[in-house]
Amino acid sequence: MDIVVSGIRSTGKLHLGNYFGALQNFVKMQHENHCYFFIADFHSLTTHPTPQDLHGSVKQVLAEYLACGLDPEVATLYVQSDIPEIPQLYLLLNMNAYMGELERCTSFKDKVRTQPNNVNAGLLTYPTLMAADIIIHKAHKVPVGKDQEQHLEMTRTFANRFNRLYNVDYFPEPVPYNFGKQLVKIPGLDGSGKMGKSEGNAIYLADDAETIRKKVMRAVTDSGPTAPNQKKPEAIQNLYTLMGVVSQPDTLKYYEEQYNNCTIRYGDMKKQLAEDIIAFTSPIRERIEAILSDNEYLRRVAKMGAEKARQSASKTLDEVRHIIGFREF
Ligand code: TYM
Repeated sequence: MDIVVSGIRSTGKLHLGNYFGALQNFVKMQHENHCYFFIADFHSLTTHPTPQDLHGSVKQVLAEYLACGLDPEVATLYVQSDIPEIPQLYLLLNMNAYMGELERCTSFKDKVRTQPNNVNAGLLTYPTLMAADIIIHKAHKVPVGKDQEQHLEMTRTFANRFNRLYNVDYFPEPVPYNFGKQLVKIPGLDGSGKMGKSEGNAIYLADDAETIRKKVMRAVTDSGPTAPNQKKPEAIQNLYTLMGVVSQPDTLKYYEEQYNNCTIRYGDMKKQLAEDIIAFTSPIRERIEAILSDNEYLRRVAKMGAEKARQSASKTLDEVRHIIGFREF
């Protein structure tokens, strides 16, 4: 049985990118694999949330995981900061992670560019913390979106380096996973790039119908194709990509044809897209609200998950310490 690990940062509510990039794969995998899913609250500290925001976001994401169908009796569902073995492994991995490779990481370079006033050491060593999250359970597969590919590559580098350095065959090589398909990148509604919390272009699972309609109707479009079967500009392709994940195949085909024969009316397409997103998210939103109001249940889930995750994490950490040479006299 494969070991599967994945996480989502607790920097706010989950959006369609998180769902289609990562979460839906977790949910599909939980019955056939040994799955560990967690809320990456240590990772969220790089943006310095207030204590209230930190706590509120962790609770929100936990409720959202459950609302999306993660079964805490089947998978191990936990909060990263409940597992002290993770920061210990992170410290050990940092000793063999080099400035040059950390500085070359694309997500770090992006942060240096976009938030030059907050380039902290946590950001630089973000990939070693992520590697610790994954290899603490000796994972084989990591369901993530396309944007995490490089982090996974670094995880493999750190795991292999450990094996080589101590001449052991201890950590498996974890691979990014999406059922044999390409990793997904869900676009935003602003005409470029990916949907993201920090990009401000996201549709959240917890958004109500009116909010979703407004966001979709505001999405960037153009004046339409001028010749049959033209290649779509990025902003337009983004709408079709979103439709591809939330709508029926027939609906997508209909609007593809309309585009290809130049009769497309973006207003109609957006209305359809908004309704299809609402149909998809409404039941999830209702479950999120119900689960959030049951604090006792959330507490029980987090406690049970922490206990299960610590069993696996402490076993790995003990073995790693032994391999490194921390031994009893
Ligand atoms: P985060 O919190 O930014 O995103 C969580 C997951 O959602 C995916 N995702 C997307 N997929 C497709 N299209 C998008 N627009 C999109 N936006 C987000 C991400 O690829 C990710 O799978 N560093 C991670 C969290 C993390 C983690 C880990 C993940 C920490 N430790 C260990 C896996 C294993 C992050 O910031 O993801």
